[in-house]
Amino acid sequence: MKAAPDTKVIVLTGNGDRENAIRAVQLGAFDYHQKPIQLNELKGVLQRAEYRKTFEADSEKSLRASETTTRFEDILGNAPAMREIFSVVTRVAKTDATVLIQGESGTGKELLARAIHSKGAQCNQPFVAINCGAIPETLLESELFGHEKGAYTGAHVQRKGKLEIAAGGTLFLDEIGEMSGPLQVKLLRFLQQREIERVGGRELVRVDARVIAATNKDLKAELQSGRFREDLFYRLSVVNLKLPPLRERGDDVVLIANAFLRRSSQRHRRKLQFSASALESIIHHPWPGNIRELENTVERAVIMSKGKLIEPRDLGIDVG
Ligand SMILES: Nc1ncnc2c1ncn2[C@@H]1O[C@H](COP(=O)(O)OP(=O)(O)OP(=O)(O)O)[C@@H](O)[C@H]1O
Ligand SMILES: [Mg+2]
Repeated sequence: MKAAPDTKVIVLTGNGDRENAIRAVQLGAFDYHQKPIQLNELKGVLQRAEYRKTFEADSEKSLRASETTTRFEDILGNAPAMREIFSVVTRVAKTDATVLIQGESGTGKELLARAIHSKGAQCNQPFVAINCGAIPETLLESELFGHEKGAYTGAHVQRKGKLEIAAGGTLFLDEIGEMSGPLQVKLLRFLQQREIERVGGRELVRVDARVIAATNKDLKAELQSGRFREDLFYRLSVVNLKLPPLRERGDDVVLIANAFLRRSSQRHRRKLQFSASALESIIHHPWPGNIRELENTVERAVIMSKGKLIEPRDLGIDVG
């Protein structure tokens, strides 16, 4: 059995090779050819092989092209709700309006905040992120507003807070729903007056930084239960963006899965595609962890898959 390396046409030398040839076709060879060879027939096979090569290159190109037309900064999406968000962001990025981003975990809140920052006039200034849920209250105050020398035990030098570090740029307040009542008051004062007071300080410092806040909580419900201040909510949500969960974005799941697959296979130096049934599972999975879950799932599948096709078992998701 001989195989032309480029066109991947297999020529059979005897009947015993037939099984091997079929296996080779399953692994990506174009066709196999029975001896005795009819030259015309072989020419036809080669032409079709050439055509398929061009077709594959074209569809790869058009997949890439469709990705660039459905990309906003690094955010992929074509669903009407996402297009609407992109259009609002294009308008809002040019202003310094405060933005509140709401969405389930893994829906791309931080990615969106970064897109707003980089579309804006302040794109060359710092983008500073802080997770309000991950830091204890007393520490969060000094992280945000900074502290003066001697403000508390261990404060040997004066330190700027994230707000001052973000001056001229953007401060991204992640998990804003976790912020304590007293800090909410302090943040509100900053948003109203654009001035801060460092912990242990008396002086008011003027700071111009845009604030983008995000939460995966239902903040309206937090208002009703009194855990979040209404006045702060309205100050923060001058522009209110709601990122839909992935399961409500229609075909975006396929678009994003293919983009992740391309990226991940490049990194692992492999050439992989989803099988039709793997794509079915991707489309039907509810993705509770949203795009982050999809990203991790594809990465794992690329590592786990043995052939050229990613099969449902490589995805390891429960199709129900
Ligand atoms: N529309 C998208 N297109 C491509 N990649 C995306 C998209 N949305 C999110 N991602 C990617 O998914 C991952 C999760 O996004 P991100 O961290 O912004 O989500 P999040 O909403 O802030 O999550 P969490 O609530 O867990 O903090 C990131 O790696 C991000 O780059
Ligand atoms: Mg986040």
